[in-house]
Amino acid sequence: MDRLKGKTVLITGGTSGIGLATARLFLAEGARVAVTGRDPERLAAAQKELGEETLTIRSEAGSLAEIDSMMTRVKEHFGQLDVLFLNAASGTPAPVDLVTEDQFDEIVQTCFKGVFFSIQKALPVLSKNASIIITTSITNRTGSPNFSVYGASKAALRSLVQSLGLALIGRGIRVNAINPGPIDTEGFNRLPIPQEMLLAIKNDIEGRSPSKRLGTPEEVAKVALFLASDDSTFVVGEEIVVDGGISLVCLP
Ligand SMILES: NC(=O)c1ccc[n+]([C@@H]2O[C@H](COP(=O)([O-])OP(=O)(O)OC[C@H]3O[C@@H](n4cnc5c(N)ncnc54)[C@H](OP(=O)(O)O)[C@@H]3O)[C@@H](O)[C@H]2O)c1
Repeated sequence: MDRLKGKTVLITGGTSGIGLATARLFLAEGARVAVTGRDPERLAAAQKELGEETLTIRSEAGSLAEIDSMMTRVKEHFGQLDVLFLNAASGTPAPVDLVTEDQFDEIVQTCFKGVFFSIQKALPVLSKNASIIITTSITNRTGSPNFSVYGASKAALRSLVQSLGLALIGRGIRVNAINPGPIDTEGFNRLPIPQEMLLAIKNDIEGRSPSKRLGTPEEVAKVALFLASDDSTFVVGEEIVVDGGISLVCLP
């Protein structure tokens, strides 16, 4: 129950899905938690559920100005940060013929650029022996035809985890990633596609997954707990796949 006792944690994209499940688990394990998101209703619901002690921050993951003010708020609230979980992103389908420059820039900014600069701007606030965790995606290895820019941005994160893992371990800071397969989150269920197409995708995944199901956000949160806690002090620059085995048999 106390695996994160006294630790301070910032979870970007902590108002829904994997991030919210992680916030719940980290609080139960004794952490002090801050979460970010954009949608005011989801931010208010998270505040209500996670309690007054939890800091909720409205912040756009791809905006350097908003990353700056997010870090200022975190410094004012916690003093220093022990765990930085960079999880905010959404997987919007973007077929290659239809991708506009604006869409391309938005996906790269949220999924890659924002993560790099969040780490850079967090450095003055991070404690000795801090843990940085980044959410990637199995599309960064398997490929996925309608998620090419998203998958490429997540692949860039895979490389970043290795380079920054090496760059920061000398300061005692560990950088690792969680690589989820299909997880039954609000975000997955909000994909901007017709409902029948969403159901067909889920059925297809369940049929081909060695585990015959999608994962739950709580199953990913438990891996985040491992990487956040002192149980993983010798894990550096790694990406842990949490996908029920589906990347072994590949995605559509
Ligand atoms: N679910 C899956 O199958 C799956 C698979 C592989 C990887 N992932 C990755 O897992 C992470 C979490 O996804 P999820 O499925 O848990 O999604 P989710 O339920 O939609 O939660 C996403 C969270 O990120 C926030 N967010 C999204 N875009 C943002 C932005 N541009 N700026 C700030 N906050 C933003 C959302 O806040 P708002 O709602 O307020 O925007 C929300 O709190 C993402 O990095 C995603 O790429 C998910």
